[in-house]
Amino acid sequence: MTRNQKTWGGRFASAPARRVQAFTESVSFDQRLAEADIRGSIAHARMLAKIGVLGDDEFESIAAGLARIRERIEHDDFEWHIELEDVHMNIESALTDEIGELGKKLHTARSRNDQIATDVRLWLRDAIDELVDNLDALRRTLIELAEREAHTILPGLTHLQVAQPVTFGHHMLAWEAMLARDSERLADVRGRVNRLPLGSAALAGTTFAIDRRMVADELGFADVIDNSLDAVSDRDFAVEFASVASLVMTHLSRAAEEIVMWVAPACGFIELPDAYCTGSSIMPQKKNPDIAELIRGKTGRANGHLTALLTASKGQPLAYNRDNQEDKQPLFDLVDTVHDSVLVFNDMLANVQINADNCRLAAQRGYATATDLADYLVRKGVAFRDAHRIVGNAVAHAISAESDLADLALTTLQQFSPTITDDVFEVLTLEGSVAARDHIGGTAPNQVLAAAGRARERLPAANCDKVV
Ligand code: ARG
Repeated sequence: MTRNQKTWGGRFASAPARRVQAFTESVSFDQRLAEADIRGSIAHARMLAKIGVLGDDEFESIAAGLARIRERIEHDDFEWHIELEDVHMNIESALTDEIGELGKKLHTARSRNDQIATDVRLWLRDAIDELVDNLDALRRTLIELAEREAHTILPGLTHLQVAQPVTFGHHMLAWEAMLARDSERLADVRGRVNRLPLGSAALAGTTFAIDRRMVADELGFADVIDNSLDAVSDRDFAVEFASVASLVMTHLSRAAEEIVMWVAPACGFIELPDAYCTGSSIMPQKKNPDIAELIRGKTGRANGHLTALLTASKGQPLAYNRDNQEDKQPLFDLVDTVHDSVLVFNDMLANVQINADNCRLAAQRGYATATDLADYLVRKGVAFRDAHRIVGNAVAHAISAESDLADLALTTLQQFSPTITDDVFEVLTLEGSVAARDHIGGTAPNQVLAAAGRARERLPAANCDKVV
């Protein structure tokens, strides 16, 4: 008897052709689900014993056999067989080798269809929890940076042109806010991942009087999926996760792009430690921000996985189809990609050095306080649109005089508007400009410190220092 015939081979005269075996197998990648598979099997077997389909002693032997297999897998002392197709049949077959004929009873009242849907949900639930913990750690780093750099001037940009001064801390809290929303989204997705498909069997349910709630409780699922056809076939929970993971990568890519710009010598706002950069094989002087670039690049890979999952689901008739096997590799790689990106980005940021002088100089050179001058004129009774034009004229003059606005003489400024008096110089300073934006959401240092405090409060205390 070939290994395949041990499981579904009864009605087949021959084993699958070699190429078919290689084409259809999933054990090379779904062995990653072994721990979840065994957890699910033990819960299933306990339930079968409770409803009298297995004897209590039979359950004990099955659970002990599965526990030994789990140990062997953990210690890399387990041989995976491609002829056994997937993780489920490899473990079931090993169980029969381990405890004898009794192992063949485990698959009563279930199918690989509800089994795989359960395994993926169990595995993904853990992956989500780990990702949220790591995102929280990154958010904490950003909040700490925001507090440390609450007074540091940075040119705020629109269209990549100097717009108005902001504080470095304010910028860090903008990144943190994006990731905070991603954490919220992950919690939301988790709620829908955390429902039990097991008990749906192949597609229609089973003729045994199973207790699905008992299985759900043991596995920590908040609910049981109501419809068996839906439970075995839909992968929308994976698509949802992938879309949030893509958003995390998108947010990281935006931050990564700014890191790339900020370390460029033309900018020089920050310095990365050598340990977080790489060199060039030909140009000895180079120190490149490759981590940030790779995070930016891996965002494309994440988006590709999202597209793969969506497309694999498209047009699938009810109920289970083998197309669903194609969810694994995108999902696994996506989890790994976003996990590693969050960790390495956090490490890099925790070690960044800020060149406050360069940041300040760039804001100064860009006429970043022009809006402050316009607001000043408005407070003196000039209509905003007129103030805008007056300041535009003053900036044009400053550009041709190669001077900063704050360095123009009062008499020069008064040529553009006689309402300007010598109190103007307070509003033309970068520090005055940021301090004046003193409301919730504004860039004033005291507002940044208050916002950092609120962001810190939103972080779950239990996960503070946990990096998984
Ligand atoms: N390996 C399959 C998957 O990943 C699960 C097995 C279901 N196979 C089947 N022929 N019904 O979805």
